[in-house]
Amino acid sequence: MDKLLYINGSWTGNDLEKIEVYNPANGEVVGTVPSCGKDETNAAIDAAHDAFSQWSKLTAYERADYLMKLYDLMMEEKDELAELMTLEMGKPLKESAGEVVYAASFIKWYAEEGKRVYGRTIPSSGQNKRMQVLKQPVGVVAAITPWNFPAAMITRKLGPALAAGCTFIVKPPKETPLTAIKLVELADKAGFPKGVINLVTGASSIIGKAIMDSEKVRKVTFTGSTEIGKKLIEQSAATVKNVSMELGGHAPAIVLDDADLKKAVAGVVASKFRNAGQTCICINRVYVQENVYDEFVELVAAEAKKLKVGNGLEEGTDIGPIINKDGFEKIAEHVENAVSNGAECVIGGKGTAENGAYYYEPTVLKNVNQDMLIMNEETFGPVIPIHKITSIEEGIQLGNKSPFGLAAYVYTESLSKGTQVVEGLDYGIIGWNDGVPSAAQAPFGGMKESGLGREGGIEGMEAYLETKYVSYVL
Ligand code: SIN
Repeated sequence: MDKLLYINGSWTGNDLEKIEVYNPANGEVVGTVPSCGKDETNAAIDAAHDAFSQWSKLTAYERADYLMKLYDLMMEEKDELAELMTLEMGKPLKESAGEVVYAASFIKWYAEEGKRVYGRTIPSSGQNKRMQVLKQPVGVVAAITPWNFPAAMITRKLGPALAAGCTFIVKPPKETPLTAIKLVELADKAGFPKGVINLVTGASSIIGKAIMDSEKVRKVTFTGSTEIGKKLIEQSAATVKNVSMELGGHAPAIVLDDADLKKAVAGVVASKFRNAGQTCICINRVYVQENVYDEFVELVAAEAKKLKVGNGLEEGTDIGPIINKDGFEKIAEHVENAVSNGAECVIGGKGTAENGAYYYEPTVLKNVNQDMLIMNEETFGPVIPIHKITSIEEGIQLGNKSPFGLAAYVYTESLSKGTQVVEGLDYGIIGWNDGVPSAAQAPFGGMKESGLGREGGIEGMEAYLETKYVSYVL
């Protein structure tokens, strides 16, 4: 599968050096993409810049028609997209199919929402004076996307950007460019005008620099690590770009002693083992109140034990491979650090690393404490560390003990206790008895070092709009 760049409506880059794409399930090469440089990135920026004046002038209804064609094509080719995603990313096929539907939901929701971008009229203080607020697209948008959700993290940016009237350049990660290219092939089939969508692949340092240096790119939207996000924020200063940053997480889950343990176990298992724990919002540390601690540990371990680890393309797989060696080593380090400092491994605690493929067993750790590495850093793996707490206040205090503030979870049947936790936690997303809160129509994003801005919902549309105030005297 040798793929190309997509610039100004043409597939190009055959003459460039190629980068290999690997299947993390077995280390085999599944395709190649071009390694583009500054010139190709600038060509993509120019194409998006030239296309902006036409695209932004279309009506929201016309833009919605294009988006709905893309939505229909994604649904028609759901199986092909899902298979490709599993091939290059590793997640089980059933999760890939779920991600395609989730990814397509952003396109559909924003096709509709584009028709509701309202300005407003402000009552003026003079009889012959009128005051108006207009909403306009920010301009050329560059999206730098992650490997863990190869389709949805593109469409969550693409849908609102195009619906708002912006034009788009996507730079997918080196691990999962093929799903991104397939999405752009579908956009090409949907007939989007030349230059409205462009795709570049290659070294992040080179492409990222060209994007950040360009005065033509007015917005950068990034999903990835806090470390890279901070660099992009710094670099955005030179041209004062608008930025949206969806960065790291370290989600706590607080299970109170009145929780419905069936719901709590189902929620924690769904959150933690989704995508082998390689999810920014997945639960990374669990705080359980003492009266239900032992029972919760036992029930979670029993559920986790049922999960099958293997190649995501094989029937029945629940947990696919870890994306690469670095990811695997971090998980192993967190588990080893916890165990050597007194944690007990209830199940799992081991992984395999053979022929460029890395797998880690679903793992449940008990008797962890707040000093362990795993309670202070994002693990990005299928490990649940469970810490005993004595009170709701302790849960909130430990839950907030992190520079991150993306997602948090609470399990309780009590309205007042749930409200106390929701209001006490400094997180952008809270799941109350819900392990999978994400949805196209809801705002997604974090506080503190987890990012800036929101994606999804009306907030996700606002992120691609400029506000223009007009005061006029009759
Ligand atoms: C993420 O946390 O990496 C994205 C997951 C989601 O959108 O649910």
